[in-house]
Amino acid sequence: MKLTLHIWRQKNPNHVGRLVQYEHTQVNPHMSFLEMLDVLNEELTAKGEEPIAFDHDCREGICGSCGFMINGVAHGPEAATTVCQLHMRHFKDGDVLYLEPWRARAFPPVKDLVVDRSAFDRIIAAGGYISASTGSARDANTILVPKKDADLAMDAAACIGCGACVAACPNAAAALFTGAKISHLGLLAQGQPERNERALNMVAQVRQELFGSCTNIGECEAVCPKEIKLEVIARMNRDYLKASWTERDDTAKDGD
Ligand code: SF4
Ligand code: FES
Repeated sequence: MKLTLHIWRQKNPNHVGRLVQYEHTQVNPHMSFLEMLDVLNEELTAKGEEPIAFDHDCREGICGSCGFMINGVAHGPEAATTVCQLHMRHFKDGDVLYLEPWRARAFPPVKDLVVDRSAFDRIIAAGGYISASTGSARDANTILVPKKDADLAMDAAACIGCGACVAACPNAAAALFTGAKISHLGLLAQGQPERNERALNMVAQVRQELFGSCTNIGECEAVCPKEIKLEVIARMNRDYLKASWTERDDTAKDGD
């Protein structure tokens, strides 16, 4: 297979980036998308050119490191698929592909297809934890969790923090990601002690990081490789409102 690739090249955040055209003639339909880029990088390196920088780690859809836009779609054309799990058999000989990094103010460029997603780490640090002691496994029946809640928490916990939701959102909102993290812990008994604090602190951190506001467009859900549902945003908003009212009532009582 042959492909024409237009790839965003940007030396560092201080340089102006541009799309550079590559004719890739060594594409095998059994390759993953990242393997296809690996082969292109080997060719570039052999010619003494700078290889294309892109993020990756597990290459099996679980770490959340990979991700860029393929023809304007975050993680490319296959639903529920990270770019590392996307295979070249989904493309045709002669296809023209445009590869660009996530574009959002809160994800500044690093190099080529790599952006800085440490804003997500700071949102997690603001509240994505519990204070219940961990350690050896407890008896399964010690903390009873209704099956429905366990399933919903598990669905939310599937978020890998890739950032595709932000890249796809016209507002560059981080609502799906943050809603998933707040839902995951807020649905479980172990997550109750910090539930209010978690919602207030994580949402405050989202604002500080300059993500946009959610206006229920739904592009995030459409591109999410882990099929996180918009309902996590509703759950986040409910937790945030309840926590704000509780905080207001507590302040009023203190003032009495
Ligand atoms: S919600 Fe989906 S798209 Fe957003 S960071 Fe999590 S896994 Fe990625
Ligand atoms: S490299 Fe880990 S999810 Fe793609």
